[in-house]
Amino acid sequence: MPKKFELPNNSPPIIPVVVIENAAKAPDLARALLAGGIKSVEVTLRSPAAIDAIRAISTLVPEIVLGAGTILSPNQMDRAAKAGASFFVSPGATNHLIDAAIQFEQPFLFGASTASEAMALREHGYRRLKFFPAESAGGKSTLKGLEGPLPDLSFCPTGGINQTNAEEYLTLPNVFSVGGSWIAPSNLIEAGAWAEITSLAQTASRLATKI
Ligand code: 3PG
Repeated sequence: MPKKFELPNNSPPIIPVVVIENAAKAPDLARALLAGGIKSVEVTLRSPAAIDAIRAISTLVPEIVLGAGTILSPNQMDRAAKAGASFFVSPGATNHLIDAAIQFEQPFLFGASTASEAMALREHGYRRLKFFPAESAGGKSTLKGLEGPLPDLSFCPTGGINQTNAEEYLTLPNVFSVGGSWIAPSNLIEAGAWAEITSLAQTASRLATKI
């Protein structure tokens, strides 16, 4: 199968970024997001339970578009792929990761926050990038600045995105998606507050209808 460099054009416009401490909760979390109209989730590899959480979601809730985030090593890519992740996300990009990514069919959303970082990824064939950390890297004005010289690149800003500022990001022509933890915060996951997460997802998914 040919390498898919990036998320497809019809990729979900809102990607909840989650930290899961208890893999047993992961399927219910995915169902709560789907019930609220959110079709994707990025499970960050920041907790010991993350790989088991990915496996549980991919087995029990295969209809959600499932990403593995905070990928920092090829070994994590391998484990996430075997657990069923369908795309990868990293806060940045290294030559080591870029070289390893070519061996996986999963698209990779590499992170960039400067023109040079974005250009380096573009040279490797990536046109859709994570813009991270979005708010502290200049937010919308940085994205507007990148659009002129790099018009073929499109971004998924994450880091400091919330229900209040997400809409403005989504209206930028070079933004294809936004990501963030506001839809499923760790405390609500830990509490199993699925109705609350569904409600946050419903509110967030209405943003997607505006773009
Ligand atoms: C992250 O990697 O933690 C994401 O970018 C989420 O950031 P947020 O918690 O600011 O939404």
